[in-house]
Amino acid sequence: MVLVGEARRVGDSVLLARRSPEQRTEREPLRLSKFHAPEIVFGEGSLSEAAHAAARLGARRPFVVTDPGVMEAGWPAELLAQLTAAGLAPQVWLDVTPNPKDHEIEAGYQRYLESGCDVVLGIGGGSVIDAAKGVALLAANGGRILDYEGIDRIAHPIPPLIMMPTTSGTGADVSQFCIVTDTERHTKITIMGRALVPDVSVVDPRLLVTMPEWLNAATGLDALTHGIEAFVSLAHGPLTDHHALQAISLVNGNLAETMLRPRNATARSLMAQAALEAGLAFTNAILGATHAMSHQVGGMLDLPHGVVNGVLLPHVIRFNGADSPERFVPIAQAMGLELHGAPATEAVYLVAEAVRELGDEVGVPKGLSSLGVTDADIPRLAQLTLGDACLTTNPRGASSEDIESLFRAAM
Ligand SMILES: NC(=O)c1ccc[n+]([C@@H]2O[C@H](COP(=O)([O-])OP(=O)(O)OC[C@H]3O[C@@H](n4cnc5c(N)ncnc54)[C@H](O)[C@@H]3O)[C@@H](O)[C@H]2O)c1
Ligand SMILES: [Fe+2]
Repeated sequence: MVLVGEARRVGDSVLLARRSPEQRTEREPLRLSKFHAPEIVFGEGSLSEAAHAAARLGARRPFVVTDPGVMEAGWPAELLAQLTAAGLAPQVWLDVTPNPKDHEIEAGYQRYLESGCDVVLGIGGGSVIDAAKGVALLAANGGRILDYEGIDRIAHPIPPLIMMPTTSGTGADVSQFCIVTDTERHTKITIMGRALVPDVSVVDPRLLVTMPEWLNAATGLDALTHGIEAFVSLAHGPLTDHHALQAISLVNGNLAETMLRPRNATARSLMAQAALEAGLAFTNAILGATHAMSHQVGGMLDLPHGVVNGVLLPHVIRFNGADSPERFVPIAQAMGLELHGAPATEAVYLVAEAVRELGDEVGVPKGLSSLGVTDADIPRLAQLTLGDACLTTNPRGASSEDIESLFRAAM
């Protein structure tokens, strides 16, 4: 095979970077790919499988990570009863806040050491799951959590991980990502590596019904962003495309219904599937500029991740689509948008509009300024965005000026 330019590895994907500056598309899509996924147990009532999975993985003293909100919703109590009934001695750690902080994860690691635990279980949203991954990473590798920023810096195998998502969702229960707030630099760092793919993901849609409305909206838009960014990513491939389009279609068809009728079990289950499939797509195809930018805003202002994505996504769609609109045609079709043979540029426009309309329907704010971002923040946010691993696979190369313009448009 003849390769143009330089081959570069991003996780399990090999990207090719063209050198010629006059090429409009600066980078070429992937040539090789692998597909990783945990063992997945999916469906109503599947939570009861977690105790069996823990025992099978050799657990005696499982370390159960959760947070106060999820604890109050009652799901960890159900899990703990099942673990105990299986003859295990679970220990609970719940000092995790949304957008988990570096020092919280390091405190959790100390608790893990003191408790003599083995298998790590996370029951919660993306914040809990990432905190659980961070604790497991440190348990086997030591040091400070921020030392692991970047791709494949985890040297030693980590304890077995079983994840039970309570939001729909981040896909963190199937992903090779761990996102941590760097409290000194006020940004979120990305730790990426196959070692972080959980052993088992137990997806029980029942757990979603206690989500507050704003969280349902935010995490649904996060899943939509995962689907769209994974589909247009430079590291996409046939194995990820299928899951990405399916996720886009499922969010588009079911998120609003879960807002209107929160106890509609079918719609909840389809949203759980959407989050799962979006996770399978993006953990293999990686993400793009929306996430690279969102991590900086979320780290600076401690905001809900999905809300920031929902604001940014239509702008990034227009930016990426201006360079290569073709990939937005299947996305438009997955969203049920009528193209009537219109050019691909029309698909870009329609998809961006439809994402914004869905955001309006579920209550996503119009702009970043209403979330507390100011014009003075933009240069720093843009600078940090350029260093985020998710930008590597964005289909269109972006300069500092491009990112600043995107932030301004999204204000
Ligand atoms: N690792 C990854 O692959 C990945 C991917 C995307 C996002 N993330 C990260 O995930 C985090 C966001 O996670 P999230 O959006 O799932 O929310 P979250 O975990 O931050 O939870 C937000 C709040 O909702 C509460 N909550 C969660 N589930 C609930 C339920 N079922 N009932 C009642 N309350 C509930 C929690 O207690 C918490 O207070 C961000 O830090 C983001 O960066 C990680
Ligand atoms: Fe996300």
